[in-house]
Amino acid sequence: MQRNLLMILGVVEIEEDVRALGAYPLEYNRTPDYKTILGNIFKGLQYIHRTSRPVFLVSSSGTGVMEGALTNVLNSKSKALYVNGGVFGKRWGEILAQHHIESYEIHLEYGETVSPIQIEEMLIKYPEIEAVFLTHNETSTGTLTDIKSIAEVVKKYPNTVLVVDCISSILVEPVETDEWGIDVVVSSGNKAIAIPPGVGFLTFSEKAMKKVKNSDIRLYNYDALEYLKEWERISTPYTPPISLLKQLELRLKKVQEEGLENLRKRYAANTAYLRDGVKKLGLTFFTPHMANCVTGVVTPDGINAEEVVRIMRTKHHIELAPSWPGLKEHLFRVGNFGNINKTDIDLFLNALEQTMEEIK
Ligand SMILES: Cc1ncc(COP(=O)(O)O)c(C=O)c1O
Repeated sequence: MQRNLLMILGVVEIEEDVRALGAYPLEYNRTPDYKTILGNIFKGLQYIHRTSRPVFLVSSSGTGVMEGALTNVLNSKSKALYVNGGVFGKRWGEILAQHHIESYEIHLEYGETVSPIQIEEMLIKYPEIEAVFLTHNETSTGTLTDIKSIAEVVKKYPNTVLVVDCISSILVEPVETDEWGIDVVVSSGNKAIAIPPGVGFLTFSEKAMKKVKNSDIRLYNYDALEYLKEWERISTPYTPPISLLKQLELRLKKVQEEGLENLRKRYAANTAYLRDGVKKLGLTFFTPHMANCVTGVVTPDGINAEEVVRIMRTKHHIELAPSWPGLKEHLFRVGNFGNINKTDIDLFLNALEQTMEEIK
């Protein structure tokens, strides 16, 4: 089977040495030796999440850890606020509904971002809101939210916690968990961290941990109290995705060696290079609030974005992310997470130019 270059936003291109570690025989995860691996990982996770608090490691999809976060900090009588600016913001609302939690929604046009003032207005109007659910980078449109300023607002409300989905922003955008005061950060391994899917991460501030203790909807598999107990023994309550952990350990080591700032600058340079090339082809961008590594590209009339995605895949062997009903014909998304370099971006730009010529 022809392998296509992944310039999507979900699973990503993985470095060869990291990929090779996935083929190693498994090890027993409850031995003293294994604590060395887990200890390195725990330290690396604190480093990338910019927190001195524990970062829980869960065998999970990103959606799983979203649900884990939500069910830990709320109880059946809680009221919550979520921001629906795209597929993943909307997902917070869907999980709230699934758990019969009453919620308020801030609905945004896709590509718009929520302001701290909008959040504060809701918290003033509905003081019963116990948690605000946000998406740092709304991957469905590539739109970034100013979490730092919103955290300033939420901090003023002693009974309200801020829960942020940083699944597609971790590493490539600043996520200053402790300094900004984000109460719960949700992230996962298969985007910028660049390992195969299957592992999610959760942080809880002291304020959030108080809520966890009062929760009556805590899910067994995501119970933060159990994860905390095991974190203190350098362990996890349930089986971690062992085949991924060596890969995670190596990726975290590399990130620490390079430094977060340098890594972000390197990715930002690649992202700028990609966007510059896209602009030169006469295409525009979906939102002015673009996050690093996720670019929503708008095609002009007469160029169907779905067709672009199809031809790029079948003829040029490059996977791009299509868009959603309503936007499909005019928007495709391109990711440069993971092991994507300027040569890959040149390949993408050349292929895109040919594809547009073919469609015209
Ligand atoms: C911002 C964001 N949140 C949540 C998810 C859901 O993650 P998963 O597909 O692993 O459940 C994604 C996946 O792309 C995402 O980009």
